[in-house]
Amino acid sequence: MILTTSHPPIAEAAHDEELFLPTFATIKSIRQLTELEKVFTLELPNSAPLGHRPGQFVEVSILGVGEAPISISSSPSRSAKSFEFCARKVGDVTGALHKLQPGDRVGIRGPFGRGFPIEKFRGKDLLFAPGGLGLAPLRSLINQVLDERAMFGRVVILYGARTPDELLFKDELKRWGERKDVELLLTVDRGDESWTGNVGVITTLFRQISVYPRNTVAVTCGPPVMYRFVLMELFGKGISEGNIWLSLERRMKCGVGKCGHCQINNVYACQSGPVFSYKEIKGLEEAL
Ligand SMILES: Cc1cc2nc3c(=O)[nH]c(=O)nc-3n(C[C@H](O)[C@H](O)[C@H](O)COP(=O)(O)OP(=O)(O)OC[C@H]3O[C@@H](n4cnc5c(N)ncnc54)[C@H](O)[C@@H]3O)c2cc1C
Ligand code: FES
Repeated sequence: MILTTSHPPIAEAAHDEELFLPTFATIKSIRQLTELEKVFTLELPNSAPLGHRPGQFVEVSILGVGEAPISISSSPSRSAKSFEFCARKVGDVTGALHKLQPGDRVGIRGPFGRGFPIEKFRGKDLLFAPGGLGLAPLRSLINQVLDERAMFGRVVILYGARTPDELLFKDELKRWGERKDVELLLTVDRGDESWTGNVGVITTLFRQISVYPRNTVAVTCGPPVMYRFVLMELFGKGISEGNIWLSLERRMKCGVGKCGHCQINNVYACQSGPVFSYKEIKGLEEAL
């Protein structure tokens, strides 16, 4: 793959104005997942499809507040008329988002970035390892894989959160766990009186599974601190660098390769990523 290494020529910039103009989408419903996370279902004008692939993100804006990149969490194989994202309340934009109600409108630019190359994953065993909020973008990919289940080998999902209350999409986790063609293992860093499952960081789950490394693609997304340890487990299982995929949620602003906020060396993560194989980024200082 050729990584994007520079800004497009200035002459192209005039044609890019529309990249900066949001379309206003209507919030159709809101689900509170945890104390800090809500899932928003949105519809574009005339129910136009968003046309995304798993792993891509949108820039979400609220007038008078600002804009933030948020991963698309719904699968393109599900409803074409609406899409979903999961926002954690951490600051200005996400705080304002959490105050909105169904019927309110938000600005949407995108979808942007390079998503997961799902066509390369067909025929392979898939090992998903999301941590915390990292399940939001991977949910899009996992649900597309489950909708096309016959095209993939084993599907193993290892998911960890800090506490049972912080596990996202519990209803979906339950459904995935009930399927015979999905191996789902959950863990929490700290259990509570109701938790009977595994306690420990996500790497403790890797010791409970075996994989056939030559036919396995691993996909991980989570807090930066998690990557180093997950990568060690994946290498320990013999999975090759080109078969390990991750999403880098760098600080982003424009989302379209213009501002340089997401730059890692000479690569713009908003355009060349946020999805990369480990092979592509291992030489980039500060990538992880
Ligand atoms: C590709 C991509 C995908 C993403 N997907 C998701 C997603 O699916 N869901 C999601 O919830 N988030 C996602 N994020 C992260 C999200 O974009 C950021 O959390 C974003 O900053 C939120 O915007 P905000 O205005 O709400 O927060 P901000 O106001 O930007 O605050 C963000 C954090 O920075 C801290 N902060 C803000 N200002 C300062 C300051 N002056 N000094 C020190 N600290 C400060 C805040 O305390 C907070 O912890 C994604 C990011 C990227 C790049
Ligand atoms: S260049 Fe602006 S966010 Fe990537």
